[in-house]
Amino acid sequence: MSRDLDTLLKEKRIFKPSKILTDETNIKKWMETQDVHDYDELLERASENPEWFWNDLARELEWFKPYRKTFEWNPPHAKWFLEGKFNIIHNALDRHIKGPNREKIAYLWEGESGEVRSLTYIELYKEVNKFANVLRGFGVEKGDTVSIYLPMILELPIAMLACAKIGAIHSVVFSGFWAKAFKDRINDSGSKIAITADGFTRRGKIINLKENVDKIMDKTPSIEKLIVINHADLPVEMHSPTDVWWHEIMENSDTECKTEEMDSEDPLFILYTSGTTGKPKGVVHVHAGYAVGVYTTMKFVFDIQEEDVWWCAADIGWITGHSYIVYAPLLIGATSLIYEGTPDFPDPGRIWGMVEKYGVSVFYTAPTTVRMFMKFGEKWPEKYDLSSLRLLGSVGEPINPEAWIWYYNTIGKGKCPIMDTWWQTETGMHLITPLPISKLKPGSAVKPFPTVIADVVDDDGKSVVGGGGHLVIKSTWPSMFRTLYKDPDRYVEAYWSTFKNIYLSGDVARKDEDGYFWIQGREDDVLNVAGHRISTAEVESALVSHPGVAEAAVVGKPDEIKGEEICAFIVLKENYKLEENLKEALINHVRMEIGPIATPACVNWVSDLPKTRSGKIMRRVIKAKVKGYPVGDISTLANPEVVDEIDKLID
Ligand code: PRX
Repeated sequence: MSRDLDTLLKEKRIFKPSKILTDETNIKKWMETQDVHDYDELLERASENPEWFWNDLARELEWFKPYRKTFEWNPPHAKWFLEGKFNIIHNALDRHIKGPNREKIAYLWEGESGEVRSLTYIELYKEVNKFANVLRGFGVEKGDTVSIYLPMILELPIAMLACAKIGAIHSVVFSGFWAKAFKDRINDSGSKIAITADGFTRRGKIINLKENVDKIMDKTPSIEKLIVINHADLPVEMHSPTDVWWHEIMENSDTECKTEEMDSEDPLFILYTSGTTGKPKGVVHVHAGYAVGVYTTMKFVFDIQEEDVWWCAADIGWITGHSYIVYAPLLIGATSLIYEGTPDFPDPGRIWGMVEKYGVSVFYTAPTTVRMFMKFGEKWPEKYDLSSLRLLGSVGEPINPEAWIWYYNTIGKGKCPIMDTWWQTETGMHLITPLPISKLKPGSAVKPFPTVIADVVDDDGKSVVGGGGHLVIKSTWPSMFRTLYKDPDRYVEAYWSTFKNIYLSGDVARKDEDGYFWIQGREDDVLNVAGHRISTAEVESALVSHPGVAEAAVVGKPDEIKGEEICAFIVLKENYKLEENLKEALINHVRMEIGPIATPACVNWVSDLPKTRSGKIMRRVIKAKVKGYPVGDISTLANPEVVDEIDKLID
């Protein structure tokens, strides 16, 4: 695979979208109505006059009461669509059932073992109403939080949408995390209601979700009801009076339910993400701005048309799934495919077979998946008819030009533009991304979305062109997170203080002479493993919670497929030796503390960690060694001999 890497890194080709494609895009048609002639003019006018842009798009959604002002930007705090009355569900569901989308399929679902389900807009509307009534019956009120821990089954969007309908705030925990994460998030948010399933299968192996949840339930005092979905027909123990079956409480529930009228700025959900400390950050998004942001990017970036079949192959437990599986597709009235299982199970043809079977036309995945399929070879996609595809998307990590070209040629057959979308849990929507009318450079996320002002700056905050620097955002955008749950100081401190009132993304990027952005990865102690954000501090604290570990330092090790792998260096307590079985026990321990996504790829024993004289761990020394960079100045290091030790481990 690395054979062509050198040539491709020097890839200078520019891919121009075909005229037929661009003429028919939503963005081109919209530009015509606004008398905008080209992409550059669009970006210029939008950044000069964001109100013009966003007002026009916000008008496409329905408001209970019109807003008075588009936005108020008192950095670092923003408010959008002030004094408007709105509910994202009114726009995602209620309005569709009164119109032509009523009988249209909202979700197509396929389980890992091949079973299928689908829901039309009216069917989804009824299910959501039924569950919203159940929640109300359990005393859930506007502003309450509901914690959800579910695999990729249709009850997951139903539960989220039902919360939003009645003004409750959902907090979804990725089902690949261990239940401890669920416990911590329940306790942080004080939810009265938790929702889970009996279990699910992953690569044919049963994952017993409810059994895991049972282990933490006595440590979640706020929970009054645990709602359990019978998905995999697994034997589970139901504990009275807390545990209730979803199918039983849904049975006689009413299919009509009044949608709560929310203020534009009322919270919609909390989604926890990793930061530089071990404590995850509860990112808060609100009803109206978030809705307008994700709706607009769905319309202009993915160019969703009436007949499209959209497949965002992410997990709903992450922001990509929240925004582009649950909310944006419904807001625009699309048909989406949801797949429960692993993309290469039972064989590497699985997802390509599904593209053919469902006639998927717009497909969105992570570079890790693309690189994994490159390794499996072209024979797998070639077995299937992929001619329904017309647009491709990439998210979560930098896509190397080699993977970009493979995705473009082998999957897109040279006719589907690739939307390499840069964004984050915090941003809610794409911030740096091509539009289908943009010229593409493989490996570049192109330019900021209209109205967004992005820049690459040095340590003094001065713009850098050509070289690497901190990726920052200098404007507000509608689906910007509003705060960190119960931690307003950390919101200011972590994002808006390095450069006062400028959003620090935590990524390093380069801006070329054409103003194209090339994202290079995280610059902080956050790892990006296969597109998943994992904090080194979280893995370190999981490691030191093992009785044998005295100290731990975790760094990312470059990996051809996953982008990065977790590489741990540990100091053991007396009487412990890093033999194979302890290594395995430690790896398992991290899996149980956090979840399989945090599984360390290597655990190395060192006699000590590199430290300054004041005893601070110099992680940057380990990082440089593992990544093969020069270590730089180590004159403040108290124990330089450990650098040789690390060197030997890496060779
Ligand atoms: O490092 C960037 C990377 O993913 C991080 C955000 O992770 P998360 O909040 O989990 O959201 C992921 C999905 C939006 C960013 O700080 N990232 C995301 N998209 C890209 C990317 N890196 C390079 N190119 C992208 N297109």
